[in-house]
Amino acid sequence: MPAKNIVVIVGSLRRASFTRRVAEAMVRLAPGAFGFQFAEIGRLPLYNQDLDSPDQSPKAWVEFREFIRPFAGVLFATPEHNRSIPAALKNALDVGSRPYGQSAWAGKPAGIVSVTPGAMGGFGANHHLRQSLVFLNMPAMAQPEAYIGHAADLIADDFSVKVESTRTFLGQYMTAFETFVAKLA
Ligand SMILES: Cc1cc2nc3c(=O)[nH]c(=O)nc-3n(C[C@H](O)[C@H](O)[C@H](O)COP(=O)(O)O)c2cc1C
Repeated sequence: MPAKNIVVIVGSLRRASFTRRVAEAMVRLAPGAFGFQFAEIGRLPLYNQDLDSPDQSPKAWVEFREFIRPFAGVLFATPEHNRSIPAALKNALDVGSRPYGQSAWAGKPAGIVSVTPGAMGGFGANHHLRQSLVFLNMPAMAQPEAYIGHAADLIADDFSVKVESTRTFLGQYMTAFETFVAKLA
């Protein structure tokens, strides 16, 4: 892996996820100072502290933590489930945060984009995620904020953005995010 990479975490497990499509489009609009790699969170067993000890933690947890650790920053792309983040994303945050004192997330600068086919841009999910990142000691980029609504027909099959104003915005977001990560990583 190149030294400067950002991991992308998509909060949807759905095959045709609008959120994943937006994340794929954003990666393609990034200026290119960093490489981007997607992490998969769908096969992580639900976090259970009873199972988490040095000699018996589920292999998938251990591998996920080691996968996350080398990245310079994290881009979270999340749908909104009942005005919060999906359970799969919260589980990934919890798995990566333990064992206590050895969080794989600690100190990593983060970007947050919330995505919905609805009109409100996933504000609830975006800000619930920010709340967890404070505790995880992950500085989250404050501006620009990214609330992507009406996402159902936004991204073409080649991951280009169909709406010019959104394409421009997402490009600006990725430029700001790479600058943010470069300063803090
Ligand atoms: C359990 C559940 C709860 C949802 N709650 C919200 C919500 O609070 N706000 C919203 O905008 N959309 C909500 N939706 C609709 C999602 O935005 C929609 O299913 C979207 O396609 C999910 O993102 P994805 O396409 O990346 O999987 C909800 C969907 C599900 C399945």
